[in-house]
Amino acid sequence: MNIPFAKVDCSGNEAEYVTKVLASGWLTTAGVAAEFEKRFADMVGGSFACAVNSCTAALHLGLEALDVGPGDKVLVQSMTFTSSAEVIRYLGADPIFLDCDPLTRLITPEIVAHALDTHPDAKALVVVHFGGQAACMADVDGKPGILSLCKAKGVKILEDAAHAFPTRHAGKRIGSFGDVTCFSFYANKTITTGEGGMVVTEDKDIFTRVKTMRLHGINRDIWDRFTAKKANWEYDVVAPGYKYNMPDVNAAIGLAQLERAEEFRQKREDCCRYYHKHLAGIDCLELPGLTCEWSDHACHLYPVILTENTPIFRNDFINALADKGISTSVHYKPLHRMTYYREHYGLKPEDFPNTERIWKGTVSLPVYTELKGEELEYICKSIREILTSE
Ligand SMILES: Cc1ncc(COP(=O)(O)O)c(C=O)c1O
Repeated sequence: MNIPFAKVDCSGNEAEYVTKVLASGWLTTAGVAAEFEKRFADMVGGSFACAVNSCTAALHLGLEALDVGPGDKVLVQSMTFTSSAEVIRYLGADPIFLDCDPLTRLITPEIVAHALDTHPDAKALVVVHFGGQAACMADVDGKPGILSLCKAKGVKILEDAAHAFPTRHAGKRIGSFGDVTCFSFYANKTITTGEGGMVVTEDKDIFTRVKTMRLHGINRDIWDRFTAKKANWEYDVVAPGYKYNMPDVNAAIGLAQLERAEEFRQKREDCCRYYHKHLAGIDCLELPGLTCEWSDHACHLYPVILTENTPIFRNDFINALADKGISTSVHYKPLHRMTYYREHYGLKPEDFPNTERIWKGTVSLPVYTELKGEELEYICKSIREILTSE
């Protein structure tokens, strides 16, 4: 067996749509990207969407549009990819790192309430919908969710939904909650454009700022400039913006992927459910904690944890699986352990007990649409062989 950790599924209309763009003679951002934005906004129930060339770019633009700047403080969990925090530094602001829930790897309303009390000067919060499951944004059973808690303190919310399309929470799609939500279409994500991202917001002013800063701070689209009948050279630069636009070639792949987003989600759900059923009961293996129905989960990741009584260390376990032809990954080495953040902010592992426990034992298993039944069976059998005497 040779089972990769992730595998892209481009067996739909991707080639046809890309070929059309190539034949059109216009490869960069234009009508296809606009169509992708419109369809994506419809699917997540958001009002405005702006396609960019990565989720990192989306997070940067989103935070900039929320007016985060030098000296500001932004709350973010340590258990995440560096993009969630590096964009805070791009703007000269400082991240304040938070521990996460031990089972779900999400921040909870309790963690947020405590952080808001301890850091009353925080300007914004980055919420990571880890693995494809939503953090508790909405109020539940009369208890305030993350949205209400932040609103009460005037703290802005940037949602890092790199893992969370399509994800539902409290009957709504992720993309229709906070001030700004950012998605990733990197090659191993739940849908892909090769590289790409999307900013979604309900706020027209935020949208306008994101759109302007996406392309050099120019006050018109390139597309406008080349299609307008008159004065097509004329444009103004209203801010020192960035070069973050999504080309039509990539958007064409995105349109084809969108058509199959629900089918993809269902197939990933089938993989996760299989693991959940067939890996249950292994003494030293903790399965991911669920706070929602499977059908509301994007099922981007299936991360398990080797607990303290494991007969084998995490890295040896990864190697043992690799020897059997099974590739895995680790989500994540936390940011408080990364040299830059650790040294710059004097971070200590003991301040992140839940994150530390997760990190020491975490391994993510393969999840993708083309993973076959016999491969899932082989993965589970291999894990049992390595971890138990069965
Ligand atoms: C939680 C999280 N946020 C942001 C990103 C950045 O996404 P992109 O590669 O599209 O910039 C990633 C990428 O893996 C991620 O996992």
